[in-house]
Amino acid sequence: MSRSGGLQYKTDRGPSLAACRAVRRGHFITFEGGEGTGKSTQAKLLAARLKSLGIDVLLTREPGGSPGAEAVRHVLLSGAAKPLGPYAEAILFAAARDDHVRSVIRPALEQGTWVVSDRFADSTRVYQGVLGNVDPNLIRRLEHITIGGTRPDLTFILDLPADIGLKRAVRRRGSRPRDRFEAEGLAFHRKLREAYLELAEHEPERCMVIDASAHMTKIASVIWALVDARLHPAETPSELENAVS
Ligand SMILES: Nc1ncnc2c1ncn2[C@@H]1O[C@H](COP(=O)(O)OP(=O)(O)OP(=O)(O)O)[C@@H](O)[C@H]1O
Ligand SMILES: [Mg+2]
Repeated sequence: MSRSGGLQYKTDRGPSLAACRAVRRGHFITFEGGEGTGKSTQAKLLAARLKSLGIDVLLTREPGGSPGAEAVRHVLLSGAAKPLGPYAEAILFAAARDDHVRSVIRPALEQGTWVVSDRFADSTRVYQGVLGNVDPNLIRRLEHITIGGTRPDLTFILDLPADIGLKRAVRRRGSRPRDRFEAEGLAFHRKLREAYLELAEHEPERCMVIDASAHMTKIASVIWALVDARLHPAETPSELENAVS
């Protein structure tokens, strides 16, 4: 029993250690788009390029990215949650995202680390919101709770005709079974593409639509040019400078 009679008081600890050291917040970049459009490939290439400049980078993914969220990933992608309907799926994605943001993304950004995420909240807007007809107000409320101010600085939407993306995904998957969303029909994936393009139209400052039909090295250089122009990686303190500041 504490001297306050067992009551717990919240204390305001003031600015975080990172803020005291005046570490500049890292940038947050997300990759979005339909199945097989090259999100994982481009996220990896961008993270490697940033790292080669000495920038501290965290490459992560959704659903997942933290131990708690990875456990929920399996429930979502195996299709176990599909019979519960798109509302339940949206809530499960939000639960996973909440853990991912609180335990991985936000702490990394506060330490000055750049975060590159293979899918993030736009996937929920599009898959559950548009395709699943989940009330946009609920999607917004869930985003508010799970993300708060931790919004991406830049989002690349990789755009490709749905049939080409699905063929690429099939080739990459080999003999493994299709996941819950890959298993949807072509009409679903065509609508998905349209929904991403519409989303990009509404947030042109953040969302960059990238033609994903080019060679992957060409796409990587288009993406790099945009990151360079918008987020100025050359001016970012290196891992070493962050560590000693
Ligand atoms: N520009 C490209 N041209 C041709 N093939 C590509 C290109 N980019 C990636 N690929 C190949 O297509 C397949 C799918 O790419 P990747 O896994 O990066 O896509 P994804 O968007 O992450 O897919 P998923 O939605 O299934 O996670 C991989 O085999 C990859 O090597
Ligand atoms: Mg992928």
